[in-house]
Amino acid sequence: MSNIVVFNRKIKKFKKIINVPGDKSLSIRWVLFSSLADGISKAKNLLISEDVISAIKAIRVLGIKVILNTRYCKVYGKGLNGFKYKKNLKINAHNSGTLGRLILGLVINSPYPIKLIGDNSLSKRDFKRISDPLSKFGAKFILKKKNFLPLKIYGSSNLKPIKYFEKKGSAQCKSSVMFAGMRTDGKTIIRAKKSRNHTELLCKYLNLPIKVKEGKKIDTIEINKPKKIKNFNYNIPSDISSSAFFMVLTALSDNSELIIKNININKSRVGIITILKKMGVKIVFKNKKKYRGELISDIKVISCKSLKPINCPPILNSSAIDEFLLIFLVAAKAKGVSIFKDLNELNQKESPRLEWGKKILMEMGIKTIATKNSIKIFGNPNLNIDKKIIIKKYLKDHRVFMTCVVAALSFGGNWIIHDKDSIKTSFPNFLKIINKLKNND
Ligand code: S3P
Repeated sequence: MSNIVVFNRKIKKFKKIINVPGDKSLSIRWVLFSSLADGISKAKNLLISEDVISAIKAIRVLGIKVILNTRYCKVYGKGLNGFKYKKNLKINAHNSGTLGRLILGLVINSPYPIKLIGDNSLSKRDFKRISDPLSKFGAKFILKKKNFLPLKIYGSSNLKPIKYFEKKGSAQCKSSVMFAGMRTDGKTIIRAKKSRNHTELLCKYLNLPIKVKEGKKIDTIEINKPKKIKNFNYNIPSDISSSAFFMVLTALSDNSELIIKNININKSRVGIITILKKMGVKIVFKNKKKYRGELISDIKVISCKSLKPINCPPILNSSAIDEFLLIFLVAAKAKGVSIFKDLNELNQKESPRLEWGKKILMEMGIKTIATKNSIKIFGNPNLNIDKKIIIKKYLKDHRVFMTCVVAALSFGGNWIIHDKDSIKTSFPNFLKIINKLKNND
């Protein structure tokens, strides 16, 4: 089967209700927490994608039994000290930064070295941001060129709690240190620039010894070693980052309306909604409810005739970090110049996404001025693409692929987009939902 998709025309108006799969961050965290729990934990609506399957394989490597089928996932946790550490263990995080980074915190007490590898994209991403704080606990690391995978972690049974300042707004760094803190006697204190807080909420829901003081820009987290983690069931809410492709498709389409069901609208994740609203998109929440500390809602999006440019407040960056490629498409259609700053973390993702954002917009005929950490986008409300655009060699970044599909359906043109398989990491049925909207069936 060809791994290339072709789009030749804009999508026609649609009015639909859709579901998107389970939240990726929560799915991976549920797998990891339940691997440390006492007894069987069960999840429904777990995202079944390559990143989550890599997490399941990783805990299997550590001796934890998992049953996965289309209805549920069961993890047979053996308690905090239940991992079966053996000599020469190797964990493959494939494409998943979240798994690769968080698992290092979990295995920091291994008596034997563990090798961590990843795919071509993950092997280009920074792991010093994890090895630095975890070394302070007492672990040792050997990384390729002091920074990259493959790496070897040499755990320790004599870990010391640390004080750590997480300055990048990275939930992966924060969470990895939290897991290491749970392996360590004494109080680990983390000051962290705000980022998604699912790990904190799960710790609280599980009654683990954690205190969180929320500040405006910085949160302070104190964490101790728990005595045990109780097994727990979880109904994973759907992923706002996956829903964002459809929010933006609706915002950019004529006379369309969409309801996306059961989305996790945790306030550390809703930057996309705040930004779209500021740009003039009409979005409303329906059926809001709390679930295990998370906030869940249906989201209704209505397309709009005119979009406003934005000077995006950097305080929103972390809560929209996975959605910027899409936000750039909205800026491309806005009437005026949009500015996005302090976005250097965007080049640390599955591909250098700030660079790719610029490349895609230039191909679309949109003027941009970009630096290493900012981009200025000169919007064109009458944008109508009438040329061939080939998208390839983007390190198979799932979000580049899906953003280009949204661009093709919104602005027209003849798009030839390679590496369709990339969607398997986070959103395997993405194109099925696209077809449902395209065919209005
Ligand atoms: C994630 C955190 C973010 C995000 C990633 C998922 C998580 O990465 O981009 O897709 O689940 O913790 P950083 O922590 O590197 O910002």
